[in-house]
Amino acid sequence: MSGYFITFEGGEGAGKTSILHSLEKKLKHLGYDVITTREPGGIDIAEKIRSIILNTEHTAMDGRTEALLYAAARRQHLVEKVLPALEQGKIILCDRFIDSSLAYQGYARGLGIDEVFAINQFAIQDYMPDLTLFFDIEPKKGLARIAANKDRERNRLDLENIDFHEKVYQAYKMLIDRFPERIHVIDADQTMEKVAEDSLTLITQYLSNKK
Ligand code: TMP
Repeated sequence: MSGYFITFEGGEGAGKTSILHSLEKKLKHLGYDVITTREPGGIDIAEKIRSIILNTEHTAMDGRTEALLYAAARRQHLVEKVLPALEQGKIILCDRFIDSSLAYQGYARGLGIDEVFAINQFAIQDYMPDLTLFFDIEPKKGLARIAANKDRERNRLDLENIDFHEKVYQAYKMLIDRFPERIHVIDADQTMEKVAEDSLTLITQYLSNKK
């Protein structure tokens, strides 16, 4: 497949969503054929699954149910949106993918990174991202950013305590060690402009090395 699948990862309040949209504009300006999308969601069926998973009323949801729903949304999003775009040679900027499940469900929920990887393998059939940017900010600082942003939607995972978010952060650090070629760290504890600039440099260098 001729396109590139680039995923954005990080804890709450890392700024990845804003950066993703700013990079979309910058990359288009440079002449790249770019689309943006998100997980869970990005297409109708997966957005519906998203609203079930993240509904703040669904406090009874079991951890494995949650992991399976993320994997189901991922499967549908992959076949309906990501793979066709890759075939058309597009660059896909995707807000979260499998690493989120490994960090949140696998490690922070305690289901096991390898176990969650296995159910995701059924969903993705070896289609891993070409490049992943991890937006690195201490959980306390990320959560403080969210608290200050009144416009952001509050979801069920925001109801988790700081220990949960610390575990998510630790898990991402483990994933960086496990996939050093794919996952690159961006210092997210800087101004948005600087974070966007660092991300753009990383992506354009990656793409020009592939030419
Ligand atoms: P968002 O805040 O980036 O839109 O993501 C929604 C929430 O879903 C966020 O708290 C992270 C969580 N999540 C998982 O727990 N597992 C996953 O596989 C994905 C994609 C997201």
